[in-house]
Amino acid sequence: MKRFVTVLSLFTVLTLSFGSEAKAAVTAADVAKHNVANGKTVYDANCAACHASGILKAPKTGVKADWAARLPQGMDTMIKKSIDGYTAAGNMPARGGNAELTDQQVSDAVAYMVKSVL
Ligand code: HEC
Repeated sequence: MKRFVTVLSLFTVLTLSFGSEAKAAVTAADVAKHNVANGKTVYDANCAACHASGILKAPKTGVKADWAARLPQGMDTMIKKSIDGYTAAGNMPARGGNAELTDQQVSDAVAYMVKSVL
């Protein structure tokens, strides 16, 4: 039984690590699923205030070092956190503080920002 549990937990660890690795890398293909031109318009009006300057510890658009630890989360996670808002080192307001934005608009803006650091 003990051996079975050990094998089982090893299997779980391997599955989890391979699983997260599979969706980890953000590629140009992830970005291409979104309307980046629309994302720029949304970004300029709603996100640039924090993400151009890095105010409140926001990761700066176009600065790869600011995104290196974030990109491995995968596109879907970063989009979800942008829609819901979250607090880690700083405070990212839900939908960048504009409740009028649709999920699509927020996703496109994330794609625009991610594209700037790929
Ligand atoms: C009021 C300032 C502010 C505005 C406006 C803002 N953000 Fe942020 N954003 C932040 C901060 C601060 C963080 C980092 C939070 C942390 O790590 O604790 C962040 C983090 C992020 C991240 C990284 C998420 C991750 O998983 O690491 C993304 C993507 C993002 N914002 C997208 C957007 C988008 C898209 C908009 C516009 C719709 C936007 N933000 C508007 C402050 C802002």
